[in-house]
Amino acid sequence: MKFLITGGLGFLGSNLSQKVLREKEEIIVLDNFSKINCKNNLKWLKKNGNFKLINQDVRNQKKIDNIIKNIIPDVIFHTAGQTAVTKSIENPRKDFEINVGGTINLLEAIRKYSPQTILVYSSTNKVYGDLKYLSLSEGDMRYHLNNSQDGLDETLKLDLQTPYGCSKGAADQYVLDYASIYGLRTTVFRHSAIYGPRQYPSFDQGWVSWFCLKGLEIKYKIEKDKIKVLGNGKQVRDVLYVEDAVNLYFNAISKIENIKGIPLNIGGGFENSLSILELISFLEKELNIDINYEIDQEREADQKYFVSENKKVKDILDWKPKISFHHGLKKLIIWLESNLKSDI
Ligand SMILES: NC(=O)c1ccc[n+]([C@@H]2O[C@H](COP(=O)([O-])OP(=O)(O)OC[C@H]3O[C@@H](n4cnc5c(N)ncnc54)[C@H](O)[C@@H]3O)[C@@H](O)[C@H]2O)c1
Repeated sequence: MKFLITGGLGFLGSNLSQKVLREKEEIIVLDNFSKINCKNNLKWLKKNGNFKLINQDVRNQKKIDNIIKNIIPDVIFHTAGQTAVTKSIENPRKDFEINVGGTINLLEAIRKYSPQTILVYSSTNKVYGDLKYLSLSEGDMRYHLNNSQDGLDETLKLDLQTPYGCSKGAADQYVLDYASIYGLRTTVFRHSAIYGPRQYPSFDQGWVSWFCLKGLEIKYKIEKDKIKVLGNGKQVRDVLYVEDAVNLYFNAISKIENIKGIPLNIGGGFENSLSILELISFLEKELNIDINYEIDQEREADQKYFVSENKKVKDILDWKPKISFHHGLKKLIIWLESNLKSDI
């Protein structure tokens, strides 16, 4: 099989690329190197095998057309994107051009030149907006959902908020519509937070890895200031270890006929749900540190609670997360710590 991974030097993309290399399948990695540390992921990927690298921007329609025409990939994992809400607010046009324009460029190219190609799009739970209407109660460490279920399913109504929510949501809808209107083999995963090695976090994106990194910096006395927590820290997400996410993308290939045009909510599930305060408490014990933090204003359209029910993905793809957050966080910490030590 021939795989094209857009954003293949990013966090999710590099982990997907590594799996393709391990499976000894043909792979083309496309990335425009806009994320810092792409070069580190490239260096690491090269250790895993040979692949073709295309330094290209998904916004370049002509180039994307040519690439698809020449490669005719069996599978595209489309992970390239502008990924931070904050940056989308600073520059909504750029966010639109990358997330919507880049996605439509790929869809149009496969419609014209490679209609058998499977395309899986990495969407987000942010397409459901701030979910302010959920009935929640506030505990000491986290919000709780006031109903018999702990997870949320795909019947939630779309509510596109913030430029990032709008651009991801629009792309998500195009991907689904191309399955219905043109019969293409395209599908959408709406992700809650994914975490794990190869994620170089920033304050703007990748909160699980960011707090783990800050914890380590406190341990090694690199960080001496208070850590900023946006909102009251009781926001809950179901966190998913990247290896589980990677396995899911591969499950999707053989069952594409069952999921084309169908969006799936994807997360670690209730057992892997975590608030920021709970993560801080975990890190304090795990790293034997005290974390001083200060509360700041919550992010635009931040959800107080999102946990994926994961029922539909279990029913259709027979997939559920296998790696507990305890185990996954320990693996992430080992990876972050080795990076940090090599920098000290
Ligand atoms: N990581 C998460 O928790 C999470 C959650 C929900 C959705 N997602 C989605 O999953 C996808 C992957 O996320 P990630 O965490 O791996 O992000 P990432 O920022 O680590 O990776 C994105 C990659 O895309 C590349 N890229 C950006 N703009 C590009 C462009 N115009 N042309 C070509 N390449 C470009 C970047 O250089 C980077 O390597 C994104 O689309 C994101 O919106 C991620």
